[in-house]
Amino acid sequence: MHIVHISVEMAPIAKVGGLGDVVTSLSRAVVDLNHNVDIILPKYDILNLSNVKDFGFHKSYSWGGTEIKVWLGKVEGLSVYFLEPQNGLFWKGCIYGCNNDGERFGFFCHAALEFLLQSGSHPDVIHCHDWSSAPVAWLFKDEYMHYGLSKARIVFTIHNLEFGEKLIGKAMAYADKATTVSPTYAREVAGNPVISPHLYKFHGILNGIDPDIWDPFNDKFLPVSYTSENVVEGKKAAKEALQQRLGLKRADLPLVGIITRLTHQKGIHLIKHAIWRALDRGSQVVLLGSAPDPRIQNDFVNLASQLHSTHNDRARLVLTYDEPLSHLIYAGADFILVPSIFEPCGLTQLTAMRYGSIPIVRKTGGINAGLYDTVFDVEHDKERAQSHGLVPNGFNFEGADAAGVDYAVNRQASLKSQNLAISAWYESRDWFNSLCKLVMEQDWSWNRPALDYLELYHAARK
Ligand code: ADP
Ligand code: GLC
Repeated sequence: MHIVHISVEMAPIAKVGGLGDVVTSLSRAVVDLNHNVDIILPKYDILNLSNVKDFGFHKSYSWGGTEIKVWLGKVEGLSVYFLEPQNGLFWKGCIYGCNNDGERFGFFCHAALEFLLQSGSHPDVIHCHDWSSAPVAWLFKDEYMHYGLSKARIVFTIHNLEFGEKLIGKAMAYADKATTVSPTYAREVAGNPVISPHLYKFHGILNGIDPDIWDPFNDKFLPVSYTSENVVEGKKAAKEALQQRLGLKRADLPLVGIITRLTHQKGIHLIKHAIWRALDRGSQVVLLGSAPDPRIQNDFVNLASQLHSTHNDRARLVLTYDEPLSHLIYAGADFILVPSIFEPCGLTQLTAMRYGSIPIVRKTGGINAGLYDTVFDVEHDKERAQSHGLVPNGFNFEGADAAGVDYAVNRQASLKSQNLAISAWYESRDWFNSLCKLVMEQDWSWNRPALDYLELYHAARK
């Protein structure tokens, strides 16, 4: 099969969050299963072309009153066509955040279909994502399907319903198949008026992570390669490197890492509370995050300077986007905290486990679907884990308040039937080390979900 993704994000060259990871990693998994995948992406002026191999001019065409230059290159082994309209729509120094994002991406979707048509390409499936490439669904059915791209079917994935419900509803109506990024999120949004009329073609498929891109045995950002067999040694070296890089002094203490966009969805107030609580409980804390909203960014700048005076030896907030540092934190942390308010899937808890770090997440029956589907509490979720063929792999809490966070960070119970804080869990090294080994051995790759996507692609073509 020939599948074309039309997307405005792609890891690592144009990534804002998990959508970019999924486009790259799902595509790689489908290529591994012997299918042909291309990606069409805007050529932003901020692309880091050093991550693009064999980059060169491909062709140009006219559409929408402007010339569109098309560049071709390889990213993580995938063929990517970069569209560069000469009207400058993508020369804005950003991916999102212009006041005309809707117009920019609407233009891109149209231009991408026009490119396929003019190139004589006949994909079997065109896969689009969230509000930003949702217009592909109806532009295709209203126009391009009749012009010669007739063979293609449209698959549309909702990564986050909060973004652009209106556009998403329209794409749901036009798509041949639609997915979202975890089974529980699919159930949670099933009653939403933009989804409910389309349940017959809507599926929840859990995201995976790319085990080669996120691989502690082969990660150029880590000082020592490791697998589950030498996890203790590998994580110790990574922690020392992380401590050194950030000027932290207490490698003897457990380290709680947080890697996130700083937005309402990610539980800003819970993150702040957890930082203080973990420090009170004798841990170290490293946060890597950036906030699109300048007020939130400012808030964290203030918090960083406060922590600088109170806990300079044990806390660092790095308020930027930094891919290499994220690798070192995933490896060097003991715990990765994800206290989201809602989370359709979430990838950071999965990557944490790949690097042998223990996830502490907020999961409510309500709206933290992906965290609920992937993290099973060591005390409370044995049976639920078993029903997924897994063993418990982390810590959960429910409340969206300080008490909820305290419960997870303080955890007042233990396998040793003592009252232990997380710092003390860590002191019981044998138990903790075997948990690190165990989470590393769980498979959160695309092995299974990519097969589900292929089945869906086939079903769309029937
Ligand atoms: P979302 O897409 O809602 O942001 P996910 O958990 O699905 O959440 O994906 C977030 C992705 O972005 C992960 O790959 C994570 O490692 C990465 N990430 C988030 N913030 C940063 C940051 N400040 N620096 C580097 N990577 C980050
Ligand atoms: C969205 C969701 C996140 C998910 C990601 C990739 O950004 O917020 O939960 O993991 O998309 O699908």
